[in-house]
Amino acid sequence: MADTYRDLSTWLVETTVLGSAGALLGWDELTYMPPKAAVGRAKQMSLLSRMCHERFTEKKVGEQLGELLGQRLEEGEAASVREWKRMYDRAVKVPASLVEEIAREGVIARQAWGEAKGMSEYAIFKPHLAKTIELQRQVAKCICEHEPRSADEQYDALLDAYEPYETSANLRGIFGRLREQLVPLIAKVRESGKQAPVEILKRAYPVEKQRALSMEAAKRFGFDFDAGRLDTTLHPFCSGISPGDVRITTRYDGNDFGNCFFSVVHETGHALYEQGLPEEHWGTPLGEAASLGVHESQSRLWENLVGRSEAFWRFFYPQTQEVFAESLGNVKADEFLWAINAIRPSLIRTESDEATYNLHIILRFELEQKLLWGDLPVDALPETWNKGMKQMLGVDVPDDRRGCLQDVHWSQGAFGYFPTYTLGNLNAAALFAKAKAELGGAEGLEEQIARGEFGPLLQWLREKIHRHGRRYPAKELMRQATGQELSIEPLVAHLKKKVERFW
Ligand code: CO
Repeated sequence: MADTYRDLSTWLVETTVLGSAGALLGWDELTYMPPKAAVGRAKQMSLLSRMCHERFTEKKVGEQLGELLGQRLEEGEAASVREWKRMYDRAVKVPASLVEEIAREGVIARQAWGEAKGMSEYAIFKPHLAKTIELQRQVAKCICEHEPRSADEQYDALLDAYEPYETSANLRGIFGRLREQLVPLIAKVRESGKQAPVEILKRAYPVEKQRALSMEAAKRFGFDFDAGRLDTTLHPFCSGISPGDVRITTRYDGNDFGNCFFSVVHETGHALYEQGLPEEHWGTPLGEAASLGVHESQSRLWENLVGRSEAFWRFFYPQTQEVFAESLGNVKADEFLWAINAIRPSLIRTESDEATYNLHIILRFELEQKLLWGDLPVDALPETWNKGMKQMLGVDVPDDRRGCLQDVHWSQGAFGYFPTYTLGNLNAAALFAKAKAELGGAEGLEEQIARGEFGPLLQWLREKIHRHGRRYPAKELMRQATGQELSIEPLVAHLKKKVERFW
């Protein structure tokens, strides 16, 4: 029996190693690849992904998993088998022909989406959205192994790819309660008439200096640049290629302080998680992140709970002010702090603040479930979107480019992905509250942060989250780390404190 596990594990670890070569090619595609390499690169990547899929879905894998499921295994091995089985079942239930059709349609739909967005012309994207939805319905049906009986059952089948073991019923409850708290909080900010001095962030911030300063912050937080790098892309991301190779990217705007800095801090949070996964388990679920919602909790914790905190800027503002003396020379720390913590309802999710962000997600969650189930015809999407934005955020959507066409996700068939962003925000606040209760002794975690000591917080996250990989389902991992069930309270408390502080 030990031999069966060893045999299976060796095979699947090698499959991960093969896949990691594809990840490196994917990173290169978005950073340094010359444009004429695109056709060759697509062939390289699709061959690698097919090879990985074939290795992973081999009959032998299913048989060995079946054999191991009936046996007593050591806890870590049992967890790996549980996760491999879950992924294997998903992989074999969806026929290769459907996977290929989705990949092919994805390229076309993405192109149509780009064009539609550029011209703010929903009609261009609409037939492709309808097709994408139809394909995702088929995926859900394959995974359920029957026609889904309810919108929830259908959605859960897709959600599971991003947030294993989560359910739409649970999300609906949490999101509903969160919405009830956020809407009046945001209205209070709006009605106060007080505006954060965001103009100070839009002055001259030379790009080279931005790069150096954000790298300095990443280093301070614990990013190991001997085991990773920072490069430039259109959209920031983090790619964990192998242990010892975790790459993040950002973008620069010489007239915007926040865009680059907070992107780097966000991606650093993802990277610290990747760098903290146990190297000896690379290639098995124990060496993998627990879920997207847990991954996003790490990025949000460093970006928002640390990176926008008063404590952090007590430490980091003098240096920042010196580097950008021209623009920040006369700006008081408190003004700067308010500017980076501005709460303002806006149209675009990716540019929205810590509070309003979640309402953008809740709207998408509601709409995508209805789109899939057929309660919302694609014809009615723009109008329904705009109504939702008005109700929740009080903003008027002037065109579809800044409305239902703003995000790429649906064109890629990624239904069930959006909720993981808000799960990340909720998890981040819960983790930070617990870390505050446990760290820093009598003086507190905030005093540590204000002295530039981030090691204890990182060690705590390593201990509670990183080192476990996928040993526990995300919810169980979070329960162990925080001592509580997932709740909106820590995030709401954090946001209320912020509103009281500045408004
Ligand atoms: Co992220």
